[in-house]
Amino acid sequence: MRKVELNIINAKILVEDNLVEAGVSINQGKIVKVAKSPNLPASDVTVDSQNMLMIPGVVDVHVHLRDMNLSYKEDFSSGTQAAIMGGVTTVLDMPNTSPPTNNAERMKEKIDKSAKMIYSNVGFFGALSLDPHETSMMAKEGAIGFKLYLNDSQYNSLNDEKLLMRVLKPVRSSGVPLSVHAEFPQELTQETGSVGTRYEIERFMRSHDPQMEADAVSMCLNMAKESDAHVHICHLSTRTALDLVSRAKLAGTPVTAEVTPHHLLLSYKELNRFGSYAKMVPPLRTAKDAEGLMKGLVDGAVDVIVSDHAPHTVEEKKQRFIDAPSGIPGLETMLPLVLTEMLEKRITLRRVIQTMSENPTQLFKLKDMGKIAEGYNADIVLVDLHKEKRIEAQAFRSKAKYTPFAGRIVKGIPVMTVVNGIPVMRDGEILGKPGDGRVIRHVEVKRNDRLTVGDD
Ligand code: DOR
Ligand code: ZN
Ligand code: ZN
Repeated sequence: MRKVELNIINAKILVEDNLVEAGVSINQGKIVKVAKSPNLPASDVTVDSQNMLMIPGVVDVHVHLRDMNLSYKEDFSSGTQAAIMGGVTTVLDMPNTSPPTNNAERMKEKIDKSAKMIYSNVGFFGALSLDPHETSMMAKEGAIGFKLYLNDSQYNSLNDEKLLMRVLKPVRSSGVPLSVHAEFPQELTQETGSVGTRYEIERFMRSHDPQMEADAVSMCLNMAKESDAHVHICHLSTRTALDLVSRAKLAGTPVTAEVTPHHLLLSYKELNRFGSYAKMVPPLRTAKDAEGLMKGLVDGAVDVIVSDHAPHTVEEKKQRFIDAPSGIPGLETMLPLVLTEMLEKRITLRRVIQTMSENPTQLFKLKDMGKIAEGYNADIVLVDLHKEKRIEAQAFRSKAKYTPFAGRIVKGIPVMTVVNGIPVMRDGEILGKPGDGRVIRHVEVKRNDRLTVGDD
């Protein structure tokens, strides 16, 4: 083999269930060889990883990069810098922006603007349109998925089955998943006259009753069954909803589901400590729910871990609890939090790689991503499993400098992130340039190649 551009040697790679010493050769953004380090071809540049764990870059299919009119909260540059700091090499951006990504022109605007700014790879969701033509046009523009907010009243008309099937048709034929925020809207309960954050938290929790999630999930399962479109349920938060998904999967419904680290690891009790810094929807639930989600992650009922990185400013979060916007940043904390669980033996490394790289890539049909193997895109993370760190929001690259994980000690820190063959982050320093990431678009493929996802 001719000389390659980059070798990363002396790493530990997971093969089947064993960690083996190996390295990779990278040329023109692709992995061209995986072998024992001495057997790699000569290279222009060699990085000696000194025994670090090498895993495929994390593919995060639920991220709000904001930008456009909301760039004060986050922009394509700050959001993708946060991604590579956290070992995330590809993010899929949600359409609930200002303006929303609800037609092909707006999607094109985002694609054009972001291309020159991004440090990680980025794909764009389109908002499911009530006009099927708009949805097809977004699919043609390369929408990597569609998003439906069942908590948004503009979609109320979808309780008409006929209309729903018409609206879902272009989603089904494009072959991309429909990601759904599965909560029905519920009015805030009346103020009881009590004042103070504690009462505001209670009101907020009452307005996001677990039943609202269970009912919305039931509707999603029906939708998937009737339309045969791939429905992907976002941020499951309760055991009840998870059980519904599990049963539907066993019955062959084309449904998949994701969880966030915060729903896995925190409970609503954090609201008393962190106030609006722990406010998101769906909200944090009970410790039993979190335990159930972890079990689902381990046994295969849950397919994917996502950050649901949803940045707001600290000023916005400092308003009264009830007025503060929902959402927390997560790109920089997700992988260390999950690896800490792995080191505590609550989840295997195999399952971590499956749910953070392989499954998201397969479900969203991202070409040549999610694996350390010859011919795949060179999106790679080196992790120091012995390094510990205290989570500190002030150190985030994200503009959203708060987190309900503040003060936690995590172990398993990404020390190098490679995107498209370029080392874009090393030892906490950004080495990459804007534009090192690329915009990924869905290329239409023939139907009926629906992927089954391994869950062993
Ligand atoms: O907490 C949330 N924040 N949940 C959502 O569904 C939206 C998100 C946001 O965009 O801020
Ligand atoms: Zn959501
Ligand atoms: Zn979200």
